[in-house]
Amino acid sequence: MSLATSHPGHYSVGPTMNQTATTSPLIVTIDGPAGAGKSTVARTLAAALGVDFLDTGAMYRGVAAAAINAGIDPEKSEAVADLAEQLRIKFNWDSDPPVLHIDGLDMTHRLRDADVTSAASVIAANGRVRQVLVRAQRWIGKQHPRLVTEGRDQGSVVFPDATVKFYLDAAADVRARRRADQLRAAGRAADERKILEQIRYRDQRDSSRSDGPLICPDNAQRIDTSDMSFDEVVELLTHRVREAVAG
Ligand code: DC
Repeated sequence: MSLATSHPGHYSVGPTMNQTATTSPLIVTIDGPAGAGKSTVARTLAAALGVDFLDTGAMYRGVAAAAINAGIDPEKSEAVADLAEQLRIKFNWDSDPPVLHIDGLDMTHRLRDADVTSAASVIAANGRVRQVLVRAQRWIGKQHPRLVTEGRDQGSVVFPDATVKFYLDAAADVRARRRADQLRAAGRAADERKILEQIRYRDQRDSSRSDGPLICPDNAQRIDTSDMSFDEVVELLTHRVREAVAG
C-alpha cells in the first residue's frame, strides 16, 4: 500500500481548532541546517500563529526506526524504499506536538535514539524514500492547510509556493554549542568538539546530495540566528508572517 496515494485518511484526523477558526491557507516553511533550531522555533511559531505544526524529520526518523525494527540495513536502499512504500505513516493531530504512528505504533520513544538518528541520516539520501515522504508531506499540507512545517527541503522542494519561507541558519560552532546545551539540559553527556565535527560532516553531506539538497529556497527569508535568543527568533518570524499575511 502506498502511504500517500492509497490511504488519504492516514493524515486526516479531523479539523483543528484553527482550521475551523479561519480557513485561508497559510503554509510557512522553515528550512535550514542541522542544529539551527528549526524544530523548536517551528513548533513555537505554529503555537503563536494558532496553526498546525509538522516535524518532517520525525518522518525520516520513523522510517529509519521501522527499518531497524524490520532488521533492514539502512544502507540497503532498495529494501528500505520498498519498506517505506508499504508503511502506514500517520500523525495523531490531537496531541501537541502531533505524535507519529507507524503501522499503528507510537514511535516517539525511538525517534531520538542514536541508532535511529544515524540511520535517518543515511535514509534521507535515499531518493525513493524522499519521494514517498515528500508526497506524504504534500498530502498533509492539503489536509492541514494552515501549517508551519520544518525540514531541510520544505520551502525548496515540498512547498515551493508556501505563503512565507524562512531559511534559518547559524554559525556551525553556535549550532554545536546549542546542541550540547540541549543534551546537557536533558541530563546527557555532550562533547562539543565532537558535535561540531558531526555538524560540519552533516552540512557537507546534506548540501552535496543530489536529492533534496540543503539550499536556501527561492524567495526565502534567510535569518542568521547566531546572535539571537530563541525568543527573538520566534518574535521576528511571527512578525514577518503577520506582515506577509497583512500585506
Ligand atoms: O531534523 P531531524 O534531525 O529530525 O531530521 C532527521 C534526519 O532526516 C536528518 O538526517 C535530516 C533528514 N531530513 C531530511 O532530509 N529532510 C527533511 N525534510 C527532514 C529531515
